[in-house]
Amino acid sequence: MCGIVGGIAQRNVVPILLEGLKRLEYRGYDSAGLAVISNQQIYRKRELGKVKGLEALLEADPISGNIGIAHTRWATHGKPSTANAHPHICRNKVAVVHNGIIENHEHLREVQLKQGYEFTSETDTEVIVHEIHHAMESTDGLLSAVKQAVKKLDGAYALGIMSIDSPDILIACRKGSPLVIGVGIGEYFIASDVAALLPVTQRFIFLEDGDIAAITIDGLVIYDRDDQAVSRPIIESQLTADAVDKGDYRHYMLKEIYEQPFAISQALEGRFINNRLQENAFGHNAAEVFDNIKAIQILACGTSYHAGMVARYWFEELARVPCNIEVASEFRYRSPVLAPDTLIVTISQSGETADTLAALLEAKKLGAKYSLAICNVPESSLVRESDLVLMTRAGPEIGVASTKAFTTQLATLMLLVIAIGRRFHLTEIVEQKITSELFSLPGKIEKVLQLDDEIKVLAEQFAEKQHALFLGRGTHYPIAMEGALKLKEISYIHAEAYPAGELKHGPLALIDADMPVVTVAPNNSLLEKLKSNIQEVSARGGQLIVFMDETLASANDENVRIVKVPQVGNEISPIVYTIPLQLLAYHVAVLKGTDVDQPRNLAKSVTVE
Ligand code: G6P
Repeated sequence: MCGIVGGIAQRNVVPILLEGLKRLEYRGYDSAGLAVISNQQIYRKRELGKVKGLEALLEADPISGNIGIAHTRWATHGKPSTANAHPHICRNKVAVVHNGIIENHEHLREVQLKQGYEFTSETDTEVIVHEIHHAMESTDGLLSAVKQAVKKLDGAYALGIMSIDSPDILIACRKGSPLVIGVGIGEYFIASDVAALLPVTQRFIFLEDGDIAAITIDGLVIYDRDDQAVSRPIIESQLTADAVDKGDYRHYMLKEIYEQPFAISQALEGRFINNRLQENAFGHNAAEVFDNIKAIQILACGTSYHAGMVARYWFEELARVPCNIEVASEFRYRSPVLAPDTLIVTISQSGETADTLAALLEAKKLGAKYSLAICNVPESSLVRESDLVLMTRAGPEIGVASTKAFTTQLATLMLLVIAIGRRFHLTEIVEQKITSELFSLPGKIEKVLQLDDEIKVLAEQFAEKQHALFLGRGTHYPIAMEGALKLKEISYIHAEAYPAGELKHGPLALIDADMPVVTVAPNNSLLEKLKSNIQEVSARGGQLIVFMDETLASANDENVRIVKVPQVGNEISPIVYTIPLQLLAYHVAVLKGTDVDQPRNLAKSVTVE
């Protein structure tokens, strides 16, 4: 999704803005641009495609300045093109970069056309820059003009704004889309997330919704939504610039797959005393909230939704607590009915997914009294909006296809199942069993990672295929869904997942030698039923790849290729069986030569509807 970087300093900000854009590449984008003010002029460069294209343009024809704004655009209104790329400029006077969507842009465009403004793009953003320009004509400067202009905007925005009339002020504002200010020594920067600015600072101010900041090299003033000057704390980030380096790995995704044993150990770290989960891990009043809840509603999108689906099986099976799950974008518009004392659990790696945030707000409007976020970004909007929080502690995830964020979501969700389950039907014995299984996870995952070479060879079967089917049952049905999602996200092979019991109700018609069928077959009570499903596929000439418990694996069927997965406890097995599916998708994508870390059309953090 769009990324913003900006800066005001005594040095040339262009190299810092470019580095910032590169660090935001993981969010997904289709064009990039940058503008500076120098000698009372705005200089701008924009390029369709990757940041390195913009960099080449700047090398060929350099620009420099002490104040600048830059942007990676993920097209929403208007196709990816140089003309639609940001920054947008009005009459060589004001320049703007924008993340979000202006919902009333058509109306504003009509008004502005009548006022004589010309449009050079198809974007919704261009109305912002004209509106600010228009306001400048009747106000006493850029800051007042921005305050007046944003009142006219409906929708979501994070903005970086500069003008030749006030070349020593950078304006940053946000409503609904994230924006941080990086505090340097005698210099300030703005960005969509901290990762962009780590090479220049580790000190950040997180703007709140409705904030407008006027930034100069001498300091900054922040006005809240009521136009009151407010002070926001400076937070020291624990991240370092190299926390987001690829190291020796070919892709971030592979690095992140291999980081999972450590990420999961971090997710568990310090949350148990004498092997007993401490409920204050969720927040100081967690026990009180948990005592009152009678049901759970999970809301999430994408991969996080799949984590929630697994959790629903766990909540109902292990804890016997009623649990619903819904894709956030549906929930927010569906007029759902919430049972009294329902805990709203949102799951999001970024904490900025617009639909998940809106669904949480909708649930609150519907009377939900309690909310809990499972999230990877401590300073995110979702965390701020939730009563209780459990951080996944996966560390920065750069690959668009989520891997370690997913498995740490599952591990932390299991902690929630334990905490809530204690109040329902989870016995002390089962709790202890699950706890020891959780602690065995890093070691189990290390073992599964050793399957990498075998899976790499298997991937060759896929590279030429157009479609694939993934099957699972019970908690492993969402894992099959996650496997299919990984494959389609990064290899662009059409992949679908089915609960294996549904095979004969439709998908069996698709089976032939060209349709690989990936099956997740752990050792659990559904295994015999799953074996029958495997037979149904094989009997019709389907080619199966079955990830199966090593102690049970045997096949004398030429259509069935078995990959032996280390033996693992029932409860945590969905986490372990995720790993081979991630590796499979990764190797297929590498063979196909796609952009593994930044797949086409996708964004890491979806901050618009
Ligand atoms: C995007 C990402 C996915 C992610 C989904 C939900 O589509 O590409 O990897 O699962 O958003 O994001 P969230 O940050 O809420 O988990």
